[in-house]
Amino acid sequence: MGYISTIFIATIVTVSIVGVYVNGEEGEYEDAGVEAPMVKTEQEALYSAIQGFVGKWWNGSDLYPDPCGWTPIQGVSCDIYDGFWYVTGLNIGSIQDNSLACASNPEIRSSLFLLTHLKSLAFFDCFHTPPIVISSENWTLLSGSLESLEFRSNLGLTGAIPAAFSHLHKLQSLVVIGNGFSGGLPANIGNLTHLRRLVLSENGFSGEIGDDYGNLSELLILDLSRNSLSGSIPLTFGGLTSLLKLDLSQNQLVGKIPNEISNLKNLTLLDLSNNNISGGLTKSVQELSSLKELVLSRNSIGGDLMGIEWQNLKGLMVLDLSSTQLMGGIPKSISEMKKLRFLGLNDNYLSGNLTPKLAELCDLSSLYVYGNNLSGKLEFDGGFYGKMSRRFGAWNNSNLCVPVDLLPTDLRPFGIKTCREELEVSSFHESDSKLHNFVTSFGFTTYKLDGMWGLFSVVVSFNMVM
Ligand SMILES: *[C@@H]1O[C@H](CO)[C@@H](O)[C@H](O)[C@H]1NC(C)=O
Ligand SMILES: *[C@@H]1O[C@H](CO)[C@@H](O)[C@H](O)[C@H]1NC(C)=O
Ligand SMILES: *[C@@H]1O[C@H](CO)[C@@H](O)[C@H](O)[C@H]1NC(C)=O
Ligand SMILES: *[C@@H]1O[C@H](CO)[C@@H](O)[C@H](O)[C@H]1NC(C)=O
Ligand SMILES: *[C@@H]1O[C@H](CO)[C@@H](O)[C@H](O)[C@H]1NC(C)=O
Ligand SMILES: *[C@@H]1O[C@H](CO)[C@@H](O)[C@H](O)[C@H]1NC(C)=O
Ligand SMILES: *[C@@H]1O[C@H](CO)[C@@H](O)[C@H](O)[C@H]1NC(C)=O
Ligand SMILES: *[C@@H]1O[C@H](CO)[C@@H](O)[C@H](O)[C@H]1NC(C)=O
Repeated sequence: MGYISTIFIATIVTVSIVGVYVNGEEGEYEDAGVEAPMVKTEQEALYSAIQGFVGKWWNGSDLYPDPCGWTPIQGVSCDIYDGFWYVTGLNIGSIQDNSLACASNPEIRSSLFLLTHLKSLAFFDCFHTPPIVISSENWTLLSGSLESLEFRSNLGLTGAIPAAFSHLHKLQSLVVIGNGFSGGLPANIGNLTHLRRLVLSENGFSGEIGDDYGNLSELLILDLSRNSLSGSIPLTFGGLTSLLKLDLSQNQLVGKIPNEISNLKNLTLLDLSNNNISGGLTKSVQELSSLKELVLSRNSIGGDLMGIEWQNLKGLMVLDLSSTQLMGGIPKSISEMKKLRFLGLNDNYLSGNLTPKLAELCDLSSLYVYGNNLSGKLEFDGGFYGKMSRRFGAWNNSNLCVPVDLLPTDLRPFGIKTCREELEVSSFHESDSKLHNFVTSFGFTTYKLDGMWGLFSVVVSFNMVM
């Protein structure tokens, strides 16, 4: 918006100046074009604020005194209000190739808060050392205008997020990713009712997620991943009815997946991986009818897959339930999710057979069920193994076998004994560890059938899978 109007105005000014020259009338409008109509206090505040970040050497030299109209300063955008330029956007740090890079000791000067038309403020890769704690003072001066606030990759920003951020009532986007912030998540975020994007990932935030986060009914994206958050997922999250993406992965969250989650009808991504969620899979999951990616891996969820009507998740493309302590069988309804591309059920306690119907899923390109207790014959055909290649993993299921006669060697799935030799192998290695059992039986089998090349290919594919 700011850039567009800048270009637009600059074009008009250029045209009128060219017009002036063509008509041979000089002077009258020329100065007006070159000298930006910008209130002096605004201009001084802008220069001082930028100097704080970029260093004292910077004075806008060749651009001076025209920060907006003619040749706007990199990273600055402006709009006209009542005939004067005001700064509406400020991007500090190496966001674009030609952006203003920060000094080694950048400071946030109080002049920044005099830019009271700022709608968008972003810091990228600016604060490193020495560590800076952002004061909460003066931020409320921007509450009448600021809609987007962003801190990315500033490892030198430490301490808590300024409490005053929750007074920036116009904020639609708050992105705080990859910085050194710690302490509790900002409180009273629930007051920022216009927020559509809230990303607080990859910092050192700890403590619980406040109930007030569930008040953000216009929120589309909520990403609190990669922190040290504890406690459970607030039941109030059922109020995030507009939500499209919810990522709480890589924290230390405990407790159940709340049933209230079923209210999130527009949710396309739910990622709770790498936490300590327990209490089984809630049936409400099947009501997330817009879901495309469900990633719950590495939790202690427990329970089984049976209670859920997987066929309801018609759009699901990624289902990752690996390392979630699941027990019981794999229901056929899993193979009725026609859009499925990735299915990860590895490292659980699943038992029973693997339905050959999975081969009918045209988009399926990764299927991992290794490290379970599956049994019986794998009844996929050579075409399926050929298509999946190394993205099919079923090793470490001690009672699973593949009917080898039907398959050429190069299509045989890795680490699964042949049904024909099942008796022979198990009688030799009754109580060995699974790994030992598999290496011995598979190496033996392959060596016997194919000589050195076969053994070599086992070693190679083993390494590549790992
Ligand atoms: C800006 O700095 C340059 C040197 O970096 C100097 O020559 C110039 O006079 C300064 N301009 C103003 C307006 O301070
Ligand atoms: C807040 O603004 C006042 C008045 O401009 C100033 O004296 C003070 O240093 C500012 N504080 C911070 C942390 O910028
Ligand atoms: C939250 O909003 C309410 C009403 O809009 C207001 O009374 C309260 O002071 C606000 N709290 C914070 C921390 O902004
Ligand atoms: C969140 O909403 C509840 C009621 O829905 C209200 O009592 C509470 O004050 C709100 N919190 C904030 C921070 O706005
Ligand atoms: C869900 O998405 C649909 C279609 O994009 C939209 O019309 C509807 O308003 C959304 N629901 C909510 C609660 O945001
Ligand atoms: C996860 O939670 C279980 C109880 O549900 C607990 O026994 C276990 O120690 C927790 N693990 C971690 C890594 O916090
Ligand atoms: C694995 O499944 C077999 C039946 O196929 C069962 O006898 C055995 O107890 C199971 N082992 C574990 C560790 O669940
Ligand atoms: C099979 O399981 C054993 C024991 O759980 C483990 O040590 C080994 O790494 C696994 N093998 C593969 C190929 O994952």
